[in-house]
Amino acid sequence: MDSFNDSATPASLMATRRSGKARDMISPGPDSAQLAAMLHTAARVPDHGKLFPWRFVVIENRDAFAQSLLAAYLSGKPGAGRLEQDAVTQFAVQSPCLVAVLSSPKQSHIPLWEQELSVGALCQNLCLAAHAHGFVANWLTGWAAYDEQVLALLGGAAPERIAGFFFIGSQAKPLEERPRPDMAAITSHWAG
Ligand SMILES: Cc1cc2nc3c(=O)[nH]c(=O)nc-3n(C[C@H](O)[C@H](O)[C@H](O)COP(=O)(O)O)c2cc1C
Repeated sequence: MDSFNDSATPASLMATRRSGKARDMISPGPDSAQLAAMLHTAARVPDHGKLFPWRFVVIENRDAFAQSLLAAYLSGKPGAGRLEQDAVTQFAVQSPCLVAVLSSPKQSHIPLWEQELSVGALCQNLCLAAHAHGFVANWLTGWAAYDEQVLALLGGAAPERIAGFFFIGSQAKPLEERPRPDMAAITSHWAG
């Protein structure tokens, strides 16, 4: 167990979560029961008005997804070269498991901002749930998350949006740490 996967206590588990790199992930990924448990945990999230303004799309046929992603990319960029095309298809097939999270806002007096905050909380919960099950996760967006054809491919339609692609698997090599904020610089104490 490395220092980024200390599950001794719930607090240390949360304090040691960090992202894996999707391109470096290897098997095993979560089996269907583990993935179902992770999604269940992720969906236990603050949600003003009980609107459930989010949903998951588990992408199972990765090769078909890669081909559809490439078609969407080429329709906007027909002159894309081989390297660019390979990067697009590679995006879809990296990591053992891939889940898209859609922001799915509802007509409501609850502001869109609050619904989107709930989506972000769900996304982080999914990363934490993967960590808690002994996997690594990587939340990526990229062009595909902002492409209408890709949204439609996943069964989404405006005002839905793709909040991210969640690559989940096992880490092939030790994770590197990244700079973390200076807590004093981002924390103040209001005393009236
Ligand atoms: C909404 C969102 C989209 C992101 N998209 C990307 C991306 O497309 N490419 C990337 O390298 N990192 C992206 N990241 C950052 C990674 O998910 C991750 O936070 C970072 O690489 C490592 O930070 P961590 O170890 O604290 O998780 C995104 C993060 C968020 C919140």
